[in-house]
Amino acid sequence: MSDDDVKPQPLCHLDDLPLRGSKGVIHQGQSLFLVRQGEQVYLYENRCPHRGISLEWVPDQFLDNSGRLIQCATHGALFLPENGECVAGPCVGQSLRQLHCHISNGHIWLDDEQPS
Ligand code: FES
Repeated sequence: MSDDDVKPQPLCHLDDLPLRGSKGVIHQGQSLFLVRQGEQVYLYENRCPHRGISLEWVPDQFLDNSGRLIQCATHGALFLPENGECVAGPCVGQSLRQLHCHISNGHIWLDDEQPS
């Protein structure tokens, strides 16, 4: 089977992501996570710029108690959901690696992967 035969898969169903929540996904072998803030959905590589490790200790929990900032569980770094910039903690000024996604037909897709 060639790569052309592999049907694109969504990252997840929009309804699986709480209105102010987050979710980890494995996509094409990459550990990623989604953050939803109301109507906005953001996608990041699950890798803290401080030590290069996964951000979460508890599955799908990438946000702080306020639900408004991304938090690394290991040393507590806080990141802005909209651009991944670290605003507190040991890696201030560094950023998470953001990937682009979009919502279509009730699913979230990595950009360029929606079936036509
Ligand atoms: S590994 Fe994330 S804050 Fe240290």
